[in-house]
This record gives sequence, structure tokens and C-alpha cells, in this order.
Amino acid sequence: QTDCFTYDPGFTSTGSCESKITYIDGEEGILMHRGYSIEELAEKSDFMEVCYLLLHGELPNGSEKENFERSITYHTMLHEQMMNFFRGFRRDSHPMAIMVGVVGAMSAFYHDSTDISDPHQRMVASHRLIAKMPTIAANAYKYSVGQPFVYPRNNLNYAENFLQMTFSVPAEDYVVNPVLARAMDRIFILHADHEQNASTSTVRIAGSSGANPFACIAAGIASLWGPAHGGANEAVLKMLQEIGHKDRIPEFIERAKNKDDPFRLMGFGHRVYKNYDPRAAVMRTSCHEVLAELGVEDPLLELAMELEKLALSDPYFAEKKLFPNVDFYSGIILKAMNFPTSMFTVLFALARTVGWVAQWKEMIEDPNQKISRPRQLYTGHTARSYTELKDR
Ligand code: SDX
Repeated sequence: QTDCFTYDPGFTSTGSCESKITYIDGEEGILMHRGYSIEELAEKSDFMEVCYLLLHGELPNGSEKENFERSITYHTMLHEQMMNFFRGFRRDSHPMAIMVGVVGAMSAFYHDSTDISDPHQRMVASHRLIAKMPTIAANAYKYSVGQPFVYPRNNLNYAENFLQMTFSVPAEDYVVNPVLARAMDRIFILHADHEQNASTSTVRIAGSSGANPFACIAAGIASLWGPAHGGANEAVLKMLQEIGHKDRIPEFIERAKNKDDPFRLMGFGHRVYKNYDPRAAVMRTSCHEVLAELGVEDPLLELAMELEKLALSDPYFAEKKLFPNVDFYSGIILKAMNFPTSMFTVLFALARTVGWVAQWKEMIEDPNQKISRPRQLYTGHTARSYTELKDR
């Protein structure tokens, strides 16, 4: 039971979804993918391995990893006609609007990977989505700043390729900073999947009708865009800039506690975690590493750490079990890497695509899967007769 209806998007009669992909213990702050802790994966693995793990259930051996990475690499380029879709948008369009539009347009393009009853076509659609999201994301950024699109390069890994498509310009050579590429790869790992969050549930509901897989992912992007979900990383930075100085933190903490004030501490709280989000801890460490590598002294990092300290020492947040979540520190890293705030949620969508695809694939391949049909608790009028207009 949630709020006003029994939620059953292909879920079992208990109203919960059965999945083998991700496990979260919100009370203990545990996150595992196929049994591996997020901390170990972030430290020892890489995003391509995590993609393989989410899709296939096991970490790849050498040849499996090499074949998977080759397939992803050779799907990174967009069909040249797809490039026209970007030019239909206003230059000042939010890049998430462009992502929804262009990923949705893939459903009108790649007809040879939309027969979801065919395992090969399901695999090709999955690889195309994972491979092309960095290209679409980088193109959305280039279009917004009026720079020429930069094509993917097959000699770079996934994170390196994304950084060069985003930040290189034809006028000069671009050398990828390996520390930033590793940090980018780790950020992708931390955002890869998260059980039945709002956007993943959106993809499952859309996919349960047998809809076009590319259109289902576009629906997930739309859901992630909201400030209560994936849009929070952009909102955290705006909040920190609004607070401006550590002396103003108590004022904002009091506002967050005031039920009559719509202000909430962005990057704090979670539907499931009632303990520290394990991804936030890894993100905070990565934040220090990236800023040190770049020699960036960002006062917003000090402000964020002071805000976290004061909030966590306040009885309200302890009582409500509100802790920093994955979005609290990510914006500071991305800002240091020169991403505009409008791109923060785009990066979340880029990374979460493998989670959406893995969960969609798991559902489609479930022989007992049914179309989702959320139930409701009716709280409207009881039966009554029609009243003629002259009597109203
Ligand atoms: C993501 O689902 C996922 O897994 C999502 C995600 C993923 O990887 O897919 O983890 C990514 O979306 C992370 C969350 C990012 N959003 C934010 O950081 C926005 C700020 N946080 C909130 O808006 C809020 O915490 C939610 C939306 C995330 C959860 O809201 P809930 O369901 O109301 O949280 P709750 O039930 O635990 O709240 C308990 C109480 C409530 O007050 P009471 O009704 O008990 O009086 O705490 C209050 C809430 O009003 N509260 C907050 C708060 N978050 C909850 N008060 C102040 N500041 C906050 N941030």
C-alpha cells in the first residue's frame, strides 16, 4: 500500500517487486548490486564491468569484458540523420528536455532492435542505449553552448570518450585527465541502479505494456528530471549558492524544519535510506580527490560539509532519520569539472540508463510478467443522480 493506491506495476500480489539486481537496506545504509557492495564496486570495479554485472548477473571474465566493451564502443556513434533532432530545439532548451526528445526519437529510428520478443534485438537495444547516451548528452551540451558536435573516438574508454565529446573543441588537442576520467567513471557507478525508484518504476510500467524500449527509457528520463528525484543534484548547488555563507546555515536549517515553509534541504532525506546513503560517503571522498587534483578551493564544499555537520547534529534530522543522499556532494564535483548545473541531471540519466535497461530486461524476460495496472483506494462521492442544469 502506498499513499492512495496499491501499486502493482507487474509486482507480486504483496505489492512488492521481485528483482535480483539491486538490494537496499535503508535502515543499515546498505546498497548491493547482484550481491556486491557499492563501496567495493566503486573502489575496485569500473562502469563497463558494473553494466555487464547489472545486465547479466555476474562480473565478466576477460574475454566477456573485452567483447562487451567493444560492442558498446561500436554503438557510441549516432546515425547522422539523428543529429538533425538537436537542431530543432531552442538553444536555451534544458538539456533534459533534449534528452527526453532525442532518446524518444530513437524509437522512430532503430527499427531493427525494437522486437522485444527477440533476445538478440533486446540485447542490441540495451547496448545502443548504454552506448549512445554519452553521445546524446555531450551533443545536448555542445548545442546549448553553440559549439560544434564532437564525435566519439573508439580508442577511448567510456568515461574518457564522454569527457572528450563534451569538452574538446576542433581548434585544439584535448588530453583527457585520467584522474577526472576515473572520477567520472566512479560517479557513473554510483548512479547506475537503485532498485525501484520513481524513474525505474516508470520504465517498468511503460515497458510492461510491451512498448518500444527507447520510448520507455525516454519516460524514465522524464521522471528522473523532477527536483525530488534526479533533479536534486542541480537543486543542491542552487541551495548552497542561496545559503552563501556558513553563518546563514542555522536560518536555513530552521526553515527546513518549518512545516509551513516549502523549503527542504536538497540532497537530504530519502524514501528508503533512514541512514547515511552509502553513495554519498563515496561521493564525498571523491569530491575531495577531484578538487585536490584540480587545485580547486570551492567554498561550496566547505559550506556543504558545515551544513551536513550542523544538520546531522540537529535533533529534528536525527528524529526524522534524514541524512545526505547521493545528490548532496555530486554537484560540487561536477561543478569543479566545469559542467553547468543544467547538465547535472543529464549525467544522472546517462549513468542510470543501464539500471533502467537491466530492470526493463529483467521484467520483459519474466515469463509471469503482466501489464502494470496500479490499483487505487476510491475516496470520491458515493452514487448520486444527475442534476439538471436549471436546478444547479
Ligand atoms: C534520489 O528512490 C530513489 O532511490 C531515488 C534515488 C535514486 O538513486 O534513484 O536515490 C535518487 O532521488 C535521491 C533523493 C533526492 N531528492 C532530494 O534530495 C530532495 C530533498 N529530499 C526530499 O524532498 C525528500 O527527502 C524525499 C523526496 C527524497 C523523500 O521525501 P519523503 O518521502 O517525504 O521522506 P520521508 O517520508 O522520509 O520524510 C520524513 C519527514 C517528513 O516530515 P513529516 O511528514 O514526518 O513531518 O522528513 C521530512 C518530511 O517532510 N523531510 C524533510 C526532507 N526530506 C524529508 N524535511 C526537510 N528537508 C528534507 N530534505
